Amino acid sequence: MEDLRIGVIGLGLRASLARAAHRPGAGAAVTALCDTDPAVLKHQAGVFDAAYVTEDHRRLLDRDDLDAVILMTPDDTHERIAIDCLEAGKAVYVEKPLAITVEGCDAILRAARRTGTRLYVGHNMRHMGVVRLMREAIRRGDIGEPKTVWVRHFVSYGGDYYFKDWHADRTRTTGLLLQKAAHDLDVIHWLAGGYTTRVSAFGDLMVYGDLPRREPGTSRPEGWLREYDWPPTARRDLHHVVDVEDVSVMNMRLDNGVIAAYQQCHFTPDYVRNYTVIGTEGRLENFGDGPGDTVKVWNTGPTGHRGDADIAYRVPDAQGGHGGADTGIITEFLRFVREGGVTDTSPVAARMSVAAGYQATMSLRDGGTPYDVPALDPELVAYFEAGQQRES
Ligand SMILES: NC(=O)c1ccc[n+]([C@@H]2O[C@H](COP(=O)([O-])OP(=O)(O)OC[C@H]3O[C@@H](n4cnc5c(N)ncnc54)[C@H](O)[C@@H]3O)[C@@H](O)[C@H]2O)c1
Repeated sequence: MEDLRIGVIGLGLRASLARAAHRPGAGAAVTALCDTDPAVLKHQAGVFDAAYVTEDHRRLLDRDDLDAVILMTPDDTHERIAIDCLEAGKAVYVEKPLAITVEGCDAILRAARRTGTRLYVGHNMRHMGVVRLMREAIRRGDIGEPKTVWVRHFVSYGGDYYFKDWHADRTRTTGLLLQKAAHDLDVIHWLAGGYTTRVSAFGDLMVYGDLPRREPGTSRPEGWLREYDWPPTARRDLHHVVDVEDVSVMNMRLDNGVIAAYQQCHFTPDYVRNYTVIGTEGRLENFGDGPGDTVKVWNTGPTGHRGDADIAYRVPDAQGGHGGADTGIITEFLRFVREGGVTDTSPVAARMSVAAGYQATMSLRDGGTPYDVPALDPELVAYFEAGQQRES
């Protein structure tokens, strides 16, 4: 089997995913790189020994020696570049979130259908051990029929990661209830077996609005993401624009009647996701979200709290970034590039997570007024659910 030749567009922090895809002699090799920052390009050219580098993604797409592209630029650039990839006939992995608006997502999905080019969206949490374990327990019937999902997301390094660059600017992301929550909204949909139809949310910029900011055009501070400041109010060198919320809470109703809640805070001491799913015959909850951590199930009762639960599952060991999810998702993407067909991640689901996060952001900026989530064109749903088969 010859290696697939992969081009990568955007080689910032997420370049780790390109390294997971670089498997020379074992199915895939990164052979072309694109980044608008010449210093980044120079550094990464050495890492990958890539034969071709460019600052313009259209030049990379002109090449006929690439089988697929991995797109990892900031969120607001996904729509334009993803459509360019699809129109150039290059199978493309688009990092989550698919785009920063509902219209942007729909434009990408329409381009995929129009061109028949394969589209894959990088919702790597669907390949995280803890998520797969919870989904298997629900599908096995451990808790009966799921009725409500509650998720708390504690983002300890939020001030460092999300408030020192483009993430903090709503024109680049819409807001963190889309940018960051797209992961968990997708997982909520996956676990509950439905898509959000109506949302309401509250949120505010509580801590990072008044802290010292950098001048426009200056780079992220030296030691960024290595040396964390504590307490959060000691953080400095923030992005020159900070207008996204650092706390948000969101309620949602799904099309199958499930009711869900999602909460996100960017100034906690610890980083962890905590899921509870309650069904007609039990409840599950994760304690820690990485390899070796535990998912507990209570499905006898009624009783008071029992720390030992009825079942305790151990999250399996895994190698690679995001608890093994990055290795798993790249393996699935490479298979999809070669063979096509249905995958565990889903462009429709990616669009629905953005749509829920986008409308929730509109709600929280409108005093918590409930917003409906627009449905996706049923013809697009059918095209993607059938595994993106080219129409003759
Ligand atoms: N799935 C995950 O777990 C996960 C984790 C982190 C980031 N992400 C996503 O990955 C993407 C990248 O995030 P990041 O943290 O690496 O950002 P980053 O800012 O660290 O890196 C982005 C890179 O893209 C380059 N770039 C910007 N515009 C470009 C363009 N038009 N053409 C080519 N290069 C361009 C920048 O110079 C930079 O090197 C985002 O969409 C983010 O949401 C996903």
